[in-house]
Amino acid sequence: MEFRRIDRLPPYVFNIVNEMKIEARQHGEDIIDLGMGNPDLPTPQPIVDKLAEAAQNSRNHRYSASRGITKLRLALSSWYERRYGVEIDPEREALVSIGAKEGLAHLMWVLLRSGDAALVPEPSYPIHQFSCLFAGAEVNSVPLTHDTADFFADLKQAYERTWPRPRVILVSFPHNPTGHCVDLDFFERLVRFAQEREVFIIHDFAYAEICFDGYKPPSIFQVPGAKDVAVEFVSLSKSHSMAGWRVGFCAGNAEAVAGLQRLKSYLDYGVFQPIQIAAITALNDCDEVPPLVSSVYQRRRDVLCDGLARAGWPVHKPRGTMFVWASIPEPYQHLGSLEFSKLLLTEAKVAVSPGIGFGQSGEGFVRFALVANDARIRQAVRGVRRVMDAASKGASAGAQPTA
Ligand SMILES: Cc1ncc(COP(=O)(O)O)c(C=O)c1O
Repeated sequence: MEFRRIDRLPPYVFNIVNEMKIEARQHGEDIIDLGMGNPDLPTPQPIVDKLAEAAQNSRNHRYSASRGITKLRLALSSWYERRYGVEIDPEREALVSIGAKEGLAHLMWVLLRSGDAALVPEPSYPIHQFSCLFAGAEVNSVPLTHDTADFFADLKQAYERTWPRPRVILVSFPHNPTGHCVDLDFFERLVRFAQEREVFIIHDFAYAEICFDGYKPPSIFQVPGAKDVAVEFVSLSKSHSMAGWRVGFCAGNAEAVAGLQRLKSYLDYGVFQPIQIAAITALNDCDEVPPLVSSVYQRRRDVLCDGLARAGWPVHKPRGTMFVWASIPEPYQHLGSLEFSKLLLTEAKVAVSPGIGFGQSGEGFVRFALVANDARIRQAVRGVRRVMDAASKGASAGAQPTA
């Protein structure tokens, strides 16, 4: 049978490593899973307690509001005010989504149709590309690689080269998978460009609060006038370790928020209300949580990056996200990212994500997710060291390492 939309999707390469991981574990192997960005930290207790309390009240068992309950939209608005000094009208400029991913994918349906084009950095979080394809539109990629000197200039050039002109530009900083971060001047230039060219900006700000070394990722709304041309998605998945709860937000441009609200009113009845009530606790009463979560990821980042460097595999330390994006070390570059990931799984007992899964420009890289504790990451580094040592022994014996 022909499936008119999903037939355009490429095979999901992450499944290949994931299935190998499952099989190895079934054979009793101890695999350290640094593949998927699935937070291992528990949701803070006050949030869990609030969920349990709200779940006891049968009034919360009914269909909720598709756009999210008023108090949660108010909590988002006050979070924006506290964090960025930005005003978000909880009535017209804020909406609760079933995680940032759902909101973003459905907003593409609202903004794009067959024959339209969108501009998306690549490598990218897969739904950034696929959401445009689901909407029937074409995706034009802008490479975002380790040697990108001026991403804005590349973006502008890609826009000028694309016909029909892209209706939407999607950006996301701190960036998954590359860890690339920007400062406010990037958004100043982007907003000015969007105003001039009448293109709409979506900023996926899923890692708004996962940041290191004193760096504070900017919100696009810190640029005056950004709400005329942009929305921003934020999420509790990483900042409050609530990935399984499925709560995210779309904020900003009132027309786009209303469009998404309209579509969602046909599709869903909102996040389970006790979860929304607990999310209010997360936003209003847990300001100390995201810095604590970030400090855990920062320490893990250091354990991993310093360990890899000592093993002869120097990698860049990102200022944000929960990922380390690593160029495949010299002796293994010829394998490509999928075969190298398989090698890491079988020889180092570490599962990572092959860069090719994030798009063509991801080839030559693998992504480590910082979702295991320090001791497990040290163990992972020891496994990698074995693989690196094997390569240098192989090289001194004149052999090429193979998969
Ligand atoms: C860039 C980016 N956006 C969105 C998400 C998903 O966010 P949510 O759990 O709120 O749907 C992720 C999760 O890995 C992500 O990396």
